[in-house]
This record gives sequence, structure tokens and C-alpha cells, in this order.
Amino acid sequence: MTALASAGQDHPAMIWRNGDLVPWESATIHVNAVGHASTAAVFEGIKAYRADDGERLLLFRLHDHLRRLYDSARIARLHIPYDLPALERAVSDLLRANEFPGNAYVRPWIFPMGIIREQMVPAGAPCEVVIDSWTFDSSLREQAGAQAVVSSWQRISDAAMPPRVKAFSNYHNGRFALMEARASGHDWPVMLNSRHKVAEGPGACIALVRDGVVVTPSLTSDVLDGITRDTSLTLLAEQGVPVEQREVDRSELYLADEMFFMGTAWEILPIASIDGLPVGAGVPGPVTKTLTAAYDGVVHGRAGHEQWLTAVSR
Ligand SMILES: Cc1ncc(COP(=O)(O)O)c(C=O)c1O
Repeated sequence: MTALASAGQDHPAMIWRNGDLVPWESATIHVNAVGHASTAAVFEGIKAYRADDGERLLLFRLHDHLRRLYDSARIARLHIPYDLPALERAVSDLLRANEFPGNAYVRPWIFPMGIIREQMVPAGAPCEVVIDSWTFDSSLREQAGAQAVVSSWQRISDAAMPPRVKAFSNYHNGRFALMEARASGHDWPVMLNSRHKVAEGPGACIALVRDGVVVTPSLTSDVLDGITRDTSLTLLAEQGVPVEQREVDRSELYLADEMFFMGTAWEILPIASIDGLPVGAGVPGPVTKTLTAAYDGVVHGRAGHEQWLTAVSR
């Protein structure tokens, strides 16, 4: 029986906690360690795709995700008591221990240790480091476009709660936008920033295509420094597609020939309509399809960029 099967379907057998692989059931904390204590927590979301050979599980841009975890922790003034190579090894050890048959999503996260009764978690508070993992199904090969809507909720700004920090608390902002979008029958919101320029979705960066040029909000537009965004810009440039990073007006969204979200979880997600207006023909366009195919090839180990892949063998 595999570790996953023996653990039941809801969770894997093991979770990584503070240097050890521990059985899921014993990874507990006191009930009083949530609430204010968890507002400072930061995390990463990483995907490992099962290679076409069925043997290797390929972690995509593990090093870059972990580097962003340390960047988030630095800005939030939390200390990660492990170096980056130790966490790289920990992620691979965890995936090996859980024996996932297909793809795996990995969430390393850090949060202040113990019971903190202050409303404001002190800078430099000792932290726990946890790495969770679970299976996921990729939707890269079966994509209908999403119905998107510009949110009335503003994206948090670098001057208030930096979106560059991948903090759980930031998702409170995205959640408001998502609930509003769903209440009006849409799939996903697009948030504008405090300067009324396009920022991002609640879980992905955004890009539009107009006259063959891909345009995405700059990294100073109050967005997460997305790794899928960076991957997409690299792959598009390799295909000879011109790319621009700059401020984007809301009205530019209405003139786009194509539009898509980019994120580890959402992958390359085409946008079929925005505020009720069809994007182009309302189906994924040629640039979106080219990018999706290139991304699918790279994450499955078929299309080079080996420097982005960390193989975990069975
Ligand atoms: C708010 C937000 N923006 C953008 C992204 C995309 O980032 P990445 O491509 O690094 O996953 C995410 C991913 O979780 C996100 O939560």
C-alpha cells in the first residue's frame, strides 16, 4: 500500500514540519495559536508535474519559489531557521515520502511559533516552517475561457500591504473581489490598483494581447512578482512574440484581442470575456494557445529549460 493510500484520500501520509517528516495526524498546534498570531504568515505555492515518462515528478522553479519565500519573510521580518538548500531537500523528501501517483502541489509556509497574544506579531518572532502537499489535476490541456469582471474592490498597495509579499493575509483582499465576482455570475475578478491601473487577479497575474504584442502590468503595479508571469514572458520572447511590461489602463482590457491569467495554480488561463465584452472571438487565441503549449511542454520536461526543473524520482 502506498503512503498516500494508507493515509486515506483526504490528505497525504506525511507533512514536513521544522526539520522532520511527520505523520499528518501528529502535526497539530494549540487552538490559541491562530487568530492574530497567524496574520503575518507567508507561503509559497509550487507545482510538480509528472513527466511524460511517468517516472519523474518535476518540481517547477522550486529554487525561484523558495527564494521568493525568503523575500516575503524578509519584508515581513520573519526568520526562516533553515537555509534555502535545506528547504529544497525537504520539498523533495516530502514528495518522495508521499508517493504521489500524479501531479503534486506543494505549499511551504511559515508562521510565528506558539501562542502569541499580542495583536501585532513582533518582528523577528520565532517561526515554524511547514511544508504541505497534495495532488492536483492540470487544466492546461482542456481550457475554456473564463468570464472575468473588473472588481470594485481595489488591490492592496505596496504602501499599505505589499502584494509582493506572499502573505496569507493578502488573500483577504482577493477574497472580497472573488466573492463579488461570483455573486454577479462571473468566474474571476481583475483588480485595479490605487492608481486605477490594472493590477492582477486574486491568484494570478494578467496579460493582454493587442496587435500581436503581449502587455502585462509592470512589477510596480501592485502585483505579486509572479513566477508564471516571468516564465510566460521568457517563453513568449523565445517564440518571437514582443512583450511589454508597463502600466495598463482598464479600457485597454476592452480592446484586447486575447487575454489570460498566469499563475502556478491557475496555469495559463484564457479569459473569454471581460465586463461582459467578448475578448477577441471569445475563445483562446493563437498567442494564448502557443504559450499554453510551450508551458505544458516545459513543465512536463519535454521542451528544455532544465534549469527550471527539479526531478524527484520514485
Ligand atoms: C495574487 C497572486 N498574484 C499572482 C500569482 C501568480 O504567481 P506565481 O506565478 O508565482 O504562482 C499568485 C499565485 O498564487 C497570486 O496569489
